[in-house]
Amino acid sequence: MKYFKSLITLFIVLAAQPAWAADDNLIPPDVRDYLGYGAMMVMMILIIIAMLVLNNTFKALAKALLSPAEYAEMEAERKQAKVKKPKGEVVLKLLSLKPLSEEKSILIEHDYDGIQELDNPTPGWFMYLFYATIIFSVGYLLIYHVFDAAPLQDEEYTIEMKIAAQEKEVFLAKAANQVDEKTVKLSTDAAILSSGAVIFKQSCAPCHGEHAQGMVGPNLTDDYWLHGGKINDVFKTIKYGVTAKGMPTWEKQLTPKQIADVANYIKSVRGSKPANAKEPQGDKENEDGNAQATQTAMVVAR
Ligand code: HEC
Repeated sequence: MKYFKSLITLFIVLAAQPAWAADDNLIPPDVRDYLGYGAMMVMMILIIIAMLVLNNTFKALAKALLSPAEYAEMEAERKQAKVKKPKGEVVLKLLSLKPLSEEKSILIEHDYDGIQELDNPTPGWFMYLFYATIIFSVGYLLIYHVFDAAPLQDEEYTIEMKIAAQEKEVFLAKAANQVDEKTVKLSTDAAILSSGAVIFKQSCAPCHGEHAQGMVGPNLTDDYWLHGGKINDVFKTIKYGVTAKGMPTWEKQLTPKQIADVANYIKSVRGSKPANAKEPQGDKENEDGNAQATQTAMVVAR
């Protein structure tokens, strides 16, 4: 009973896995499909093997039960057949070799200081393989060099690189959404800042002002911060909000990437000295300004 319970739990956990994996899984869905199909194929092959083994067992059992005499005879025959063929003969046949006793008949006339040669034919299987390569080469020539039906190596390379570039883009887009207040990085990337500006105009300007000069919410362009002015602090304030003081949480409305974009936009408007700026609130953060200057310099230098 105990085992049964833990088995059921394990099954439920495994079955629920795709549900948690949902959208932010970094394994592409088609790869997941292939893994699934592969597992199903292996299961099916195992089932077929088991069925064949069972079938043979039942056949032998039926024979042994219904006509024991016939069964004994069959077994004896099988045993004999196994002993009959000596191994050496099979090897000799496969290699098209003559047994040692008949070697004289294929000896070639010439003799180099007592070293002689046998005229053994090439084994049949090897010749078939050789003919197969010739047929293959004709097909290969026609497909790749006459009809251009399939891409050559160079082309194949460019095609694969193109597909990989697309996959990389998708992957990076997903990876960008994995960002949180611990991993967010300061950026001066124009695309990020303009995306942040759009979000700011839409969602933040009503309380913080068109130019982040401050209205209901504080001025976001000065050196004074209530909840910290580092990029990580800004990200955290936006994500979780300060609901008691009227700053909403944005975790639900914005994706992590959007929060990072708007946080970077706020960092970029620091010191822009907009008109009608609201009076400073919170503590002055000098070091943060310095830190930002060096980090920006690093980004530019790179
Ligand atoms: C409903 C009005 C409102 C909206 C909309 C709003 N905020 Fe705020 N925000 C506030 C208020 C009020 C505070 C001050 C909270 C406090 O006093 O602790 C604040 C504080 C902040 C702070 C912290 C400032 C500091 O000094 O530490 C940041 C950063 C901020 N908001 C960013 C944003 C961003 C980004 C958006 C848009 C996605 C946004 N806010 C939208 C009202 C708002």
